Amino acid sequence: MTASTQPLPKDLFPYIGKEGEDLPRFDPQKPLPPKVAPNPRLVANMGLHTIPAKPVPPLALLGIAGVTDIIQQMPTPNIMPANLTRCRPDKFSDAFFVDRRLNGFNPGKLNRTIGQEWQYVVRYDCRKYAVDPGGILPATIEARFVLRGHSLYAHSIQYVLREGNNISNAPITNSPGDADWEWAKRLFRSAEFLFQETQAHLARTHLNVEQYAMAYYRNVKNNKIAELLEPHFEGLLNINKLGANIIFGDEGVIPQSSTISTTDVEKLLKEEVSRLNYHTWHPRMQALQDFVSNNHYDRAAIAVWEIVEQYVGKFFQDYESAIRSDWAEIEGMSQDLVGHSILKRELGTLKIHNINDLKKLCIYVIYHSSFLHSWTNYKQYEDGGDIEYAALGLWDEKHPSFDPAVAAKRNIGQVLITWTLSSVRYNPIMENGSSLLKDLLWQRRDEIQPGLPLEMLMMSIHI
Ligand SMILES: [Fe+2]
Repeated sequence: MTASTQPLPKDLFPYIGKEGEDLPRFDPQKPLPPKVAPNPRLVANMGLHTIPAKPVPPLALLGIAGVTDIIQQMPTPNIMPANLTRCRPDKFSDAFFVDRRLNGFNPGKLNRTIGQEWQYVVRYDCRKYAVDPGGILPATIEARFVLRGHSLYAHSIQYVLREGNNISNAPITNSPGDADWEWAKRLFRSAEFLFQETQAHLARTHLNVEQYAMAYYRNVKNNKIAELLEPHFEGLLNINKLGANIIFGDEGVIPQSSTISTTDVEKLLKEEVSRLNYHTWHPRMQALQDFVSNNHYDRAAIAVWEIVEQYVGKFFQDYESAIRSDWAEIEGMSQDLVGHSILKRELGTLKIHNINDLKKLCIYVIYHSSFLHSWTNYKQYEDGGDIEYAALGLWDEKHPSFDPAVAAKRNIGQVLITWTLSSVRYNPIMENGSSLLKDLLWQRRDEIQPGLPLEMLMMSIHI
């Protein structure tokens, strides 16, 4: 093939849908360009942890074929390996409830209050999402915490239950010791799971970063910035294309196991991406305002952000003139970013005005591709691998539409997918990152590790 007949990057990387309206993503119906196809090592890493495992005849001799058959015959979540909560006798204690709000799979959601008996609150507003028949999802729910010394304690949970999709019920408040206190915590954990999966994990990391990856792949060919960014995009378009079917599409585990529809899952995803802007975001924006001794997330998040700043800063210091010499590619990237962005108008623009903006963008993208995705992805099974502890959907067993077989399928679906997604670990930074990045992380491991072991920090979003 001569150079003139080679397809243009913009033809190889088409967006789906309408610009400015749909999520700025690669069209999952189109073939993945060879440049972003998974390499054999990534394929092997994914295959090792994917269920259904392929029943290859010779393996039967080793007694390890037939995984799928066994799971189908015994479709109970407990057939899967134990998760964190199944190994915690105190999993229903209030202290563990507080610890997981700080350090569990949906971190960074505590907000300081003013003029209340409680100092911190985590609130989920589900009023905009319709609930499937028999599904239990509160219209709103908030967990409140008091600060005493350097610790947080559970204060109460307030929620509004629906009757069908009627959300005009009076709020109910439960406090520790109430008869319904354990139920209130269970309801909260379920609503949290929905927001964790759709917004914290998929939207904020997978889909948010994809808009930058798309603009990059469509425009950057020779610019030196490729050396910095590309290792952090590896596997992203592949997993997001797969995810369109198995995670958030009609047959995906989120619409299937949760109480809301595919359309409302999409609404949750878009809502989150539309408020994210690399120009203004910093982990301190969501950090607790008080010192809390077991707040491992904020300490880790701020340490990793500063490390990524140093890592990106050094690259720009060394290669600024090379980056500037191919600036037309960055202008093209900026145009695609802005042209396809769904950012709310009042929140500014994703435009790359100058080299400083490009530096900010790189810090933001690398932080989200490594630390934030690793946290929200690899902790999924810790919380979500135990149905009695946290279910993506709660169902009224007395509702006429309740079917125990469907419920069992949903439960095993939740546990299988969270196990798979938490188990594939390709390219840990401490093995495959640059020596500078590894050194910086190792030096500050005491700040990062109580929250996230360094070996759980991956280079890119590939699962
Ligand atoms: Fe993920």
